[in-house]
Amino acid sequence: MAKKVAVIGAGVSGLTSLKCCVDEGLEPTCFERTEDIGGLWRFKENVEDGRASIYQSVISNTSKEMTCFSDFPMPEDFPNFLHNSKLLEYFRIFAKKFDLLKYIQFQTTVLSVKKRPDFSSSGQWEVVTESNGKEQRAVFDAVMVCSGHHILPHIPLESFPGIERFKGQYFHSRQYKHPEGFEGKHILVIGIGNSASDIAVELSKKAAQVFISTRHGSWVMSRISEDGYPWDMIFHTRFSSMLRNVLPRTILKRMMDQQMNQWFNHKNYGLEPQNKYLMKEPVLNDDLPSRILYGAIKVKSRVKELTETSAIFEDGTVEENIDIIVFATGYTFSFPFLEESLVKVEDNMVSLYRYIFPPHLAKSTLACIGLIQPLGSIFPTVELQARWVTRVFKGLCTLPSERTMMADIIKRNEKRIDLFGKSQSQTLQTNYIDYLDELASEIDRLHPVCWGLPGQYWLALTLIHFNFCYIQSPNRARALTAPGIPST
Ligand SMILES: Cc1cc2nc3c(=O)[nH]c(=O)nc-3n(C[C@H](O)[C@H](O)[C@H](O)COP(=O)(O)OP(=O)(O)OC[C@H]3O[C@@H](n4cnc5c(N)ncnc54)[C@H](O)[C@@H]3O)c2cc1C
Ligand SMILES: *[C@@H]1O[C@H](CO)[C@@H](O)[C@H](O)[C@H]1NC(C)=O
Repeated sequence: MAKKVAVIGAGVSGLTSLKCCVDEGLEPTCFERTEDIGGLWRFKENVEDGRASIYQSVISNTSKEMTCFSDFPMPEDFPNFLHNSKLLEYFRIFAKKFDLLKYIQFQTTVLSVKKRPDFSSSGQWEVVTESNGKEQRAVFDAVMVCSGHHILPHIPLESFPGIERFKGQYFHSRQYKHPEGFEGKHILVIGIGNSASDIAVELSKKAAQVFISTRHGSWVMSRISEDGYPWDMIFHTRFSSMLRNVLPRTILKRMMDQQMNQWFNHKNYGLEPQNKYLMKEPVLNDDLPSRILYGAIKVKSRVKELTETSAIFEDGTVEENIDIIVFATGYTFSFPFLEESLVKVEDNMVSLYRYIFPPHLAKSTLACIGLIQPLGSIFPTVELQARWVTRVFKGLCTLPSERTMMADIIKRNEKRIDLFGKSQSQTLQTNYIDYLDELASEIDRLHPVCWGLPGQYWLALTLIHFNFCYIQSPNRARALTAPGIPST
């Protein structure tokens, strides 16, 4: 009998998990708390508890060729970088094409996922859901957690002495929707991630003055790279990834410095990262440097203290008459429906094998999909995660021993801190191509069908993987066939 799989959430991670279940002949049921698919990418005017919330102008920071699922290119007439409504449209076409909607129970919240008494032999879970005030229980052979990690706002108010005195308005970036209503205001944006920069730029066109306060600075990149290609097509090639792995650190640092400062010298804009050799995720923003040049945005150091109306910064400067503070300080995450011992979140960190499997379970029948922040697009990443996971569920791949998994988790974490630093925003950060490679090799190496194959089949398989798993772009020329760009 086909194994029953519960998929929690119908965002990108849930949708691709559903498809992989179907591909492997598993029997999925997806529970989605809201009335529709798309998760984070379905913009709504109002902020909803327990769901990610984006601003109306969010545009993807990864290009369409690198963002699509490996077996489902985006429509030809879609632009290279996508407005959130376009991404939602893509999900709708995807769900329709693979007939996924019939597996989804909407307006159904997962309340708890618990091991069955005979878990050590059956690996089964009891899932309790709630819909229209009615609770339901069902038994599943496996569970895929796809509930997202951009839901719980992180506002470190303790680092802002005086905030209780502040007379203006303050809120987290997840509350921000439009620039309307901010005309003529003095606005302080805290943080310099992608959201902080987007919001600062957008508000600076309406506000009297925008300040952006950063502790560490950040590399800011344009979406447009060499020869006008989308940045990720140039940055994430096999060749450059190999270089990043084999070159000595000192040379790499020099190259990175040069590459990142090619567009503008970050030091002159007050943006140079404190530890500039960390691979921390870049900010992708085409307008931020020019808004700074126009004086519409002023870059400030860390906030030392707030008074009723002003902000005092670490460098001693003071900005008076601040009306509004936007905390673009990121997110924390939790899994309220799981027992704490299953996926323990400490300091925004979880101990999961390959960011997916809890290592201490008697049976590998629980997996987290999308609990990761790759340097590239999340879509192909979650797709490969789901492919591996469904194969593990099916018994085509097995996981190593708990000891081996723990050792891997510890080693990976050390490597992560070395590459990306310790900051709480970087706990899920991973390399892109390297991670995809690891997942692909898990799928291949352990695939029993592959074992006895002669050399040429291995080569063929590798090439197929190379095509489908690693390189999303069929070819570069196609990347620039979008409306507005005449094709040659
Ligand atoms: C502003 C912003 C811009 C971004 N831009 C990009 C980008 O350009 N490129 C990129 O690759 N990534 C980007 N990301 C990362 C983003 O996280 C991913 O693109 C992706 O949307 C994550 O999808 P998900 O399915 O894992 O989670 P979500 O999209 O959050 O979906 C989770 C789903 O689970 C449901 N759910 C949650 N709890 C329960 C429950 N208990 N029971 C039932 N259902 C539940 C929710 O309702 C939701 O539908 C961006 C993130 C943000 C915040
Ligand atoms: C794109 O922006 C989101 C939201 O800030 C971020 O989580 C993600 O890491 C960014 N992606 C890249 C490749 O920078």
